[in-house]
Parts: sequence; structure tokens; C-alpha cells
Amino acid sequence: MTHDETLPAATPEVTADAVLDALRDVVDPELHESLVELGMIRNVEVTGAVVAVDVALTIASCPLRGQIREDVASRVGRLAGVADVEVRIGVMGAEERSALMARARRAAQQRAVAVDLPPSARVLGVVSGKGGVGKSSISVNLAVALASRGLTVGLLDADIWGFSIPRMLGVDGPLEVRGMKMQPIERKFGAGAVKVVSMGFLSGEDDAIMWRGLMLNRALQHFLEDVEWGRVDYLVVDMPPGTGDVQMGLARMLPRTELLVVTTPGLAAQKVAGRAADMARKGHLRIAGVIENMSGFTCGHGERYELFGSGGGQRLAEEIGAPLVGRVPLDPSVAVGGDTGAPAALDTASPIAAVFADLAERVATEIAPLVDLEGCSARLLANVEAALDRSAS
Ligand SMILES: Nc1ncnc2c1ncn2[C@@H]1O[C@H](COP(=O)(O)OP(=O)(O)OP(=O)(O)O)[C@@H](O)[C@H]1O
Ligand SMILES: [Mg+2]
Repeated sequence: MTHDETLPAATPEVTADAVLDALRDVVDPELHESLVELGMIRNVEVTGAVVAVDVALTIASCPLRGQIREDVASRVGRLAGVADVEVRIGVMGAEERSALMARARRAAQQRAVAVDLPPSARVLGVVSGKGGVGKSSISVNLAVALASRGLTVGLLDADIWGFSIPRMLGVDGPLEVRGMKMQPIERKFGAGAVKVVSMGFLSGEDDAIMWRGLMLNRALQHFLEDVEWGRVDYLVVDMPPGTGDVQMGLARMLPRTELLVVTTPGLAAQKVAGRAADMARKGHLRIAGVIENMSGFTCGHGERYELFGSGGGQRLAEEIGAPLVGRVPLDPSVAVGGDTGAPAALDTASPIAAVFADLAERVATEIAPLVDLEGCSARLLANVEAALDRSAS
């Protein structure tokens, strides 16, 4: 027996690099990216067989705190030579958070599906914290008002089961397929045009039920990948109510989506902010602006009534730190136009058309382009996350 064989096997030495390498396998459950790639591992300290890892979370009240701690401890604990792991949880500052969101967006871009959209086209997802606040009415009239400025606007009806755009815009299918790609239904408005895709063109308004077997996200992906959108300046996406699969699917497949949050004056701003913030955080999307709908009613005598309360749009805008880009009054012509396929924004002599023209103007000129927003995404995020904290408590 040689001298060497009597010794216990040498314990491999753990290095900080080996720990970092191992942590590449640990993925943030919401952002679907490695903690290392996201810059969430601040420091690794190795003292003999004891490893201490500093993890920085995006928000202090991160609901996944426990899971992240456990994942880190268990992954590092599996490394040969590690006897004990201490996971120290901290919270990111605004700059770190901004850098994290930029990294998460870049990673998401790499995973995005191939959509036939010019790189310059802006994608505006019209969302809300609650159903029935007027997302579809706003989407249609905003699209028409943008088209009236001479722009070409894609209008994607992402409300797969509850589609309403074909009726509201007075357009009908079926979609034509050319060279393996579906062609949106195009309607000219002034010098511009709106190009629409909706489940309504595939199934007819009454038999949507038939499509329930089709996965929601598959349908959305189909509309993104297999449609020849062509040269559009904007893609307005009318979202279904809520903050579910379709919203997250769009964020994943088309990460350049920005959100326009529709609210009514009486809705609790904090609650809506919480939902919007949640959507923005999970999908790492930007909130481009807030639109208040049904804000007051002016009767035939010129008297104004605040039927649904007041100030909700402004309060929400303040909560999430995004601009209030429009206030659309309650006007019967919006509802009638929606039912008859003649959007209210078309009647250029009417006051309501002026409101939508103004909204389109602000969307086109005042919402900072994506690139300029990079620097203030930390502020936006800090605001939306503060709102999220408040609404969670
Ligand atoms: N500014 C307005 N003035 C009058 N009626 C409006 C206005 N905005 C929306 N409506 C009406 O309110 C109802 C709900 O609007 P809409 O369908 O656009 O909401 P939604 O948020 O898309 O709903 P859902 O969550 O079900 O998709 C419709 O009957 C619509 O005509
Ligand atoms: Mg709708």
C-alpha cells in the first residue's frame, strides 16, 4: 500500500468562477433568463467549503424570492466540495434594474418569432385592467385616425375568442392566402389604410366556439408569423380583457410591443396600475401611455356630466409614470359606429372625431420613440413596481 492510498481523496477546491458557471443554470422564473445573464448575481464569496452568494432581486417584495433562494442554494450545493451555501438577498437599484430590463429585452428579442413587420413599425398593445372599458373601440378609432394622417396601420384583433374588430370596422373575410402568407383585409381611410386580421375572418362571428380547441397562443403566433403585414407604420393590437396568456404570448413573440393602458375615470387607479405593472414586469414591456375612456358625457345642451367619476386616467398615469395621451368622452356615436362598422373617428365634422385625431397626433408625435425610452425605463419600472407593491399590500 503506497502512502498516497491511505489519504482521503483530496476535496476539490471550489472557485467563484465555478459557482458562477453553475448559476448559469438557474433561471428567473418570470423573466426566463439565467440569473447570471440578468446581472442578478452581485457577488460570490468562497471561504473554504462555504459559499456565500449575493442575489439582487428587482423588487423587495418579489413573490418568487423563496423559490430563487432555494434554486440558488440547491444548484450551488450540488457542486463538489461545497459544504454550505448562504444566499443573501438584496434589492436592485434603479440603474441595475434598468440594465436588467434591457438585457431581458435583448434576450427576448432573440427568442422572438419572425414577424413580417418593418423594423420601424411601432407595435402598440391596447390593454386594460378590466374588461369592457373600450379597448376595441379605442383600437379601431385610433387605427382609423392614424390612417387618416396618411399612415398605414396594421390592426391585429388578438381577442381570439371575443373578436369584435370586423364588426366595428365594417370589414369581412375570408383572408386570402398568397404565397403561404395570409393577406390582411385592407380598408382605405383618407391617404392611409388599415390592414386587419381577426379570428372573425377565419370563422365567422357566430361559430367562434369551433375554435376553442385551438390553443390561444398558437392562434396568435399564426397571426404574427403567417400574415404578410407588409409596410405598416403601426401595428395596433386589440387585446382580450385581462392579463393572461395572450398578453404574455405577445410579449414573448413580439417583445418590441409597447402598452397603451385604457381605463375609465372611476376605476381605482391603483388596481389598474398594479395589473398593468404586472403585465409590464412579466413581459418586460414598456408602458407607452394611458388613455382614459368614457370620461364625462356632454349632453345636447352642452352640459357635462361625469357619469363614471373623474380623474382616473390622470391618477393612473401618475401611478405608472407614463403620459396620459388622451381622454375620450362617452359619446353615443362611438357605440353606434361600433355596431354599424362606421367608426366615429371617420365623421370628421364631429367633435368625437377631433378627439380621436388629437389622440392619434399625440400617439404619433409625443410618445417617445423606443430608443429614447431606454434611459428612463428604470424610472418607469420603479414607478410601476411601486404601484405593484402598493396594490399587493
Ligand atoms: N367612448 C365611448 N362612448 C360610448 N360608448 C363607448 C365608448 N367606448 C366604448 N363604448 C361602448 O362600450 C362597450 C364596450 O366597449 P369595447 O367593446 O370597446 O370594450 P373592450 O374593452 O374592448 O371590451 P372587452 O374587454 O370585452 O374586449 C361597447 O358597447 C362600446 O360601443
Ligand atoms: Mg374588446
